[in-house]
Amino acid sequence: MPGDQMPSHHGVKQAPKGIYPNDTLKLLIERGSCRNFTGKKIPSRTMEHILSAGVHAATGGNLQPYSVIKIEDPRTNKKLAEMCLQPFIGQAPANLLFCLDWRRLERWARLEDAPFTANNSFRHFWISFQDAIICAQNICTAADSLGLGSVYIGTVLEFFPRLKKMFNLPQGVFPVVLLTLGYPKVKPLSRKKLPPSAVVHSERYSEMADALLLKAFNDKYPEVKIEITPERLKRFEKVCLKVGGRKFADKCLARVRKQGYINPVQRYFGLHYVADYMPEGNLKFLKQFENFGFGWFRDYKPQGGK
Ligand SMILES: Cc1cc2nc3c(=O)[nH]c(=O)nc-3n(C[C@H](O)[C@H](O)[C@H](O)COP(=O)(O)O)c2cc1C
Repeated sequence: MPGDQMPSHHGVKQAPKGIYPNDTLKLLIERGSCRNFTGKKIPSRTMEHILSAGVHAATGGNLQPYSVIKIEDPRTNKKLAEMCLQPFIGQAPANLLFCLDWRRLERWARLEDAPFTANNSFRHFWISFQDAIICAQNICTAADSLGLGSVYIGTVLEFFPRLKKMFNLPQGVFPVVLLTLGYPKVKPLSRKKLPPSAVVHSERYSEMADALLLKAFNDKYPEVKIEITPERLKRFEKVCLKVGGRKFADKCLARVRKQGYINPVQRYFGLHYVADYMPEGNLKFLKQFENFGFGWFRDYKPQGGK
């Protein structure tokens, strides 16, 4: 939150653990998001390798319904940094904007006289979203393996129309996420995560007991106690009131006062990803899909009739 010196919501850093059966596992387990870049440019050969790793990722039906906008112009990177209020975006030598792209496949179908309805299909949308992210994650891993660092920037979701203009995105191309890429000033440490025992269910979903669930989160966020200030308390109360009414707000506030601090989950949804605001604008987002040439949220009416 701007102007509020809360400790990072990105979680707790941890020292490298050390021993792995191979370098790939070390890379995957010791990775961390990088938000601190030297100005060093990424050599074009290095960039080619990284991007090549992206396009070789798994993709539904091998369709590759995504595009990546490679942004290396410092002026554009600065604009993105200002837009997202995250200065490191402008300090990195490159940003990659991952987009769903049904446009290229639509054109292919048109040129080769094939039927095409992907823009109107939730099924296609759903898979292409996954494809774009899987491509992005291959790129992150490839970048890490070459000594670079990266961080996803989800904040771009607040600026879809501006991105459409900035990057000349045609209908059928929709931005998903930005990836900021460069050489780290300092190798980022990994952050504590829930362990496999908390997220993997053997054979079928089984809810863990409350005590185990709390232990898993307490282990992930050890000693994360956000100091109570009048301003934070006021903000927290406002969110709780709006979401759950007076009785709920009083219960949450009593909890804060009793424990003497704001706990990590109260901070996540009461002060950071604020629960009163986050669900707002859902229909506005759907509308934006419409403006980008998608219609998967409407019932589909075939042009040729039944
Ligand atoms: C979809 C997505 C969006 C994210 N958006 C941002 C962002 O806007 N700014 C940022 O600094 N980090 C962002 N992150 C990075 C997360 O904060 C980070 O992955 C998380 O705190 C865990 O830390 P780690 O990546 O170092 O393990 C994003 C990550 C993902 C996967």
